[in-house]
Amino acid sequence: MTSDLEQIGGEMAFSPQRFQALTLSGRFSLRLIIHSAALQGKKVLLPECLCQVIVSELTRYNISFGIYSLGDTLEPIWPENFAQYEVIYLIQYFGMDFRSSLPETMPRDLIVIIDDVFSPLPRLPVLINPCYSFNSLRKISPLADGSILVANRPLMLDILGQANDGGFSAQKYLNKGIKHEFLSETVTGDNALAMERRFLEGFSKAEQLLDYIEGVPSISLESQYLALEFMANLEQERLHRKLNYLRLQQLLPELVLPMDVDFFSFALLRLPGQRDELRQMLATERIFLPVHWPEQPGFNSDCTLWLSVPLDSRYHGGHMSRIADKITAFYQVI
Ligand SMILES: Cc1ncc(COP(=O)(O)O)c(C=O)c1O
Repeated sequence: MTSDLEQIGGEMAFSPQRFQALTLSGRFSLRLIIHSAALQGKKVLLPECLCQVIVSELTRYNISFGIYSLGDTLEPIWPENFAQYEVIYLIQYFGMDFRSSLPETMPRDLIVIIDDVFSPLPRLPVLINPCYSFNSLRKISPLADGSILVANRPLMLDILGQANDGGFSAQKYLNKGIKHEFLSETVTGDNALAMERRFLEGFSKAEQLLDYIEGVPSISLESQYLALEFMANLEQERLHRKLNYLRLQQLLPELVLPMDVDFFSFALLRLPGQRDELRQMLATERIFLPVHWPEQPGFNSDCTLWLSVPLDSRYHGGHMSRIADKITAFYQVI
C-alpha cells in the first residue's frame, strides 16, 4: 500500500552516501586511495599472497607493511596485533567475499582497503571505519584498462587525470586487435608466427608503460564504452562462467578450490607440485594458464603452487575437458 501523500514522478532522487571514481587500473585506484586517505608513511597489514604491484605502490609512498596469514579457502586470519596497524588490506581472491571475515571489533579510525580486483563491481562492507574498495576490469573482461573505486569517504578527485587513449590503453587495444586477427585463423605458417610474436611483444611493452605512469589517470575513452557493454551482458557472462567452473570442478575435484562466488573470474588450482613444468607442458599444447602471484621474498611461497584457469565466455565445457585431461595425464606420468 502506498500513502496518498507519497510523491510519484519527477526527476529521480539520489542519495550521495558513497564516493566513486573510474581510474586506469587497480594500482591507480590504490594510488588514489593512498592520496585520499593520506596513507603516506603509514603501516599497512597485507595478506601473505598478493601481486608485487601492490607492494611497489605502497613502497613508493613510504608505506611500511606487516603480513597476515590466510586459511585454507584464502580467508584472512587476523593477527592479534592487527589494531597496531593503521590500515588493513583485504583481498577478495577470485571474487570471493570475505567482508564478513573482517575483525568484529576494530578501532574506529582503522582504514579498510578491499582489493576486489576480480569483481565486476567493487564491494564495500557496511562500516563506520573509512573504507575503500576497487576492482580491475582488465582482469575479468576484454577491457584493456579500467578500475572502479568506491569509498565511504570523499576521494581526492582533483588529482584524477583526464581520460585519453594515449599510451598504455592504445597499445593494448592495438595488440588485442592483432591477436584477434591471429585467432581468426586466416593467417598461417610464418605469418602466423610473426604475428604472434608481434602481439606478445606489444602486450609486454604496454605493460612496461604502465609502470612509468605518474599520477592517477582515468579509465580510457575506449574502455568507457566497453565497460558499459560488459556490464550490459553481465548476467549471461555470469552464467557461462559458473557452468565452466562446475565442469572443471567435476573433472578435477581434488585440484579446484571450492569457491562460493557471485561472479567467477578464474578457477584456482592448487597443485601438488611442479607448477612450472606443468605450465610448460600445457604451453606446448597451446594452453596458456596464468600465474597470478609469483613468489615474492617475505611472502608465502605456497602461492607458487597456484595456477588459474580462465572461465570466461570465450570457453565452453570442451575447453574445460581439454585442460583437465592434460593436467590429469601430466600428474599420472610424473
Ligand atoms: C590482487 C591484485 N590487486 C591489485 C592489482 C593491480 O591491478 P592492475 O594491474 O590492474 O593495476 C593486481 C594485479 O596486478 C592484483 O592481482
